[in-house]
Amino acid sequence: MSRLIVVSNRVASITEGKSSAGGLVVGVLDALRETGGIWLGWSGTLEPKLKLNPFSERHENIEFLTVPLTKRDYDRYYRGFSNGVLWPTFHYRIDLSLYTRIDYMGYLEVNRKFAQILASTVEEDDHIWVHDYHLIPLGKACRDLGIQNKTGFFLHIPFPSPSVLRTIPPHRELVESMCAYDLLGFQTDNDVQAFLDYAARCLGATVTGNVVQLGDRITRVGAYPIGIHPEQVKSLSKESVHTKPLATLKAGLLDRKLIVSVDRLDYSKGLVERFNAFEQLLETSPQYRGKVTFVQIAPPSRQDVQGYRQIRRQLESTAGRINGKWTELSWTPIRYMNRSYDRGLLMAIFRTSQVGLVTPLRDGMNLVAKEYIASQPAHDPGVLVLSEFAGAAAEMRNGAVMVNPYDLQGMADGLHRALSMPLEERKSRYEHLMAVLKQNDLSTWRDRFLSDLAA
Ligand code: G6P
Repeated sequence: MSRLIVVSNRVASITEGKSSAGGLVVGVLDALRETGGIWLGWSGTLEPKLKLNPFSERHENIEFLTVPLTKRDYDRYYRGFSNGVLWPTFHYRIDLSLYTRIDYMGYLEVNRKFAQILASTVEEDDHIWVHDYHLIPLGKACRDLGIQNKTGFFLHIPFPSPSVLRTIPPHRELVESMCAYDLLGFQTDNDVQAFLDYAARCLGATVTGNVVQLGDRITRVGAYPIGIHPEQVKSLSKESVHTKPLATLKAGLLDRKLIVSVDRLDYSKGLVERFNAFEQLLETSPQYRGKVTFVQIAPPSRQDVQGYRQIRRQLESTAGRINGKWTELSWTPIRYMNRSYDRGLLMAIFRTSQVGLVTPLRDGMNLVAKEYIASQPAHDPGVLVLSEFAGAAAEMRNGAVMVNPYDLQGMADGLHRALSMPLEERKSRYEHLMAVLKQNDLSTWRDRFLSDLAA
């Protein structure tokens, strides 16, 4: 019988549930729980030598196979090329990209090692599903070792336009290696289009509809927007609403309205712009002074990658400046928390709030936008204020209040609109968005991808 083998750099710890996990772990874990399978990836630890015999641990129907990295692999593959070049460039921050050939060599080497592990794990009918930018060349490395199994790749982050992608020196080799997969999945049609443009214009591949032919290899390409399980999120938010931490939060708020944001502390999330927009709201709409609290939860992430330390400092000083200026004895406008919380508690905070503020400068999807809506009480729902540069905008633009995160006054206006929206309008937006989330939930995402891979 064919098994599903998922490969990603980050593998959920068995007790996963922290907000810092990021969309990949949350999505893949929930998707695998239903089908079962094998999940191969980095253990999150460093050891002197990379072992090719992974540590195996079974939890219910998932077998976790994890390997440590060496410090050298970590520096070159994870910190260097993946998070120092691919992440910033794919999020259009070429100013933060720091390419070195040595990091790229390290990146290819770790991909080859993962392929070797797969070669000793895979059985004839298994399907392999590779996730995210750390492992772009894994499909090619597998083919080089003679692995002929159906192999698909899903990119959780945006795929940039060709002119941006071409700033990465080995761009051609990278995209060529993507053509070793049978199926390529992206979050949105925009990402698909950017990939097809590159394949046709820069690789000279033959593109017919969503099929790319490079030499004798044929790769299908599609948009598979990742979803959530809206009913599960809803139940989680209801269960956690009666817990002590939430009661403490509510007591501290008194009767103030609550705006909430939850993001990994990343420069792509537009956090500084968001803080400034909140201040702009206080400047231009005095009726909200003392009446609205903004809670930003931002667990630290990739702190040893340049660019992340800088955004953390910038954010701390922005929050300090705004609070210094506006705080009163009984009111602190921004409550900025640099830590992670249990997922249930986050959903309950969403449920208690009036506005969910999700304003990345660029984002593959952003599952927080979806979780925010699913956590709302149907009789009195909060409003989602959403950046037009989040992948989620493709599905949610008709129910959310859409904003451009580069436009401070526009964001302040969006917040005002959300905070003052009449109940009937909030309900009808919520109902529309819930229908969208149910129609394309996490199982649909997984099943569509896997059945296209099997076809
Ligand atoms: C994003 C990426 C994931 C990554 C996550 C957390 O969601 O798409 O691949 O796992 O961030 O980042 P980290 O570097 O901690 O794995």
